[in-house]
Amino acid sequence: HPHIVIAIDGPAASGKSSVARALARKLRYVYVNTGAMYRAVTWLAVDKGVPVVDAGRVQQLLHFTKVECGVEDGQSTILLDDVDPTPHLVDEAVNANVSAIATLPDVRRLLTEKQRAFAYDYDVVMEGRDIGSAVFPETPYKFYVDASPEIRALRRARQGLQDSIAARDKVDSSRRTSPLVIAEDAHVIDSSNLTVEGVVGEIFGRLKQKG
Ligand code: C5P
Repeated sequence: HPHIVIAIDGPAASGKSSVARALARKLRYVYVNTGAMYRAVTWLAVDKGVPVVDAGRVQQLLHFTKVECGVEDGQSTILLDDVDPTPHLVDEAVNANVSAIATLPDVRRLLTEKQRAFAYDYDVVMEGRDIGSAVFPETPYKFYVDASPEIRALRRARQGLQDSIAARDKVDSSRRTSPLVIAEDAHVIDSSNLTVEGVVGEIFGRLKQKG
């Protein structure tokens, strides 16, 4: 991929979405939210009544669905058979099932391919769980944003979302295919006591150092 990739990984509610979005805006790069892509597929399965634990049926569903990724207003978009799933991405059913969908190797293969395709056309700030470890292991720009469990629970509560982040983190960290790990060469930032601007500043400083 000929373009710059800044990978931002971390657990649920670590603050990485706000950070990635703000950093992308500052650099005028495209912001790619890969969690939204896993959520979109989850919504599709739930909506079609396909059990998320049935790898074969999920794979078949994806095979017969047109999955189109694009960019609009500097952000990644996804359409499933021309339908924009955005309004459903934080539904309780999606929160509850997304980690199960994300364990399926066929789903990961498809979405990883789509994620890599963004970097053929754009410089990107890409946020997720396995961006630095599996999707773009060769990028020199890897960050892992973490926060204490208390702060993360508080952040979700403030957003008014029903989301068992501890359960998701457990599944995400222990799955066999591309689990949530800290890439060996990632720069770890604890955002517990930092503002979004504070974290963005730290990343920006680090990027300047690297040149
Ligand atoms: O980032 P977000 O919390 O929206 O991600 C939702 C879920 O999608 C995660 O809990 C994880 O199961 C899955 N995911 C993933 N790999 C990524 C991004 C998200 O497995 N790169």
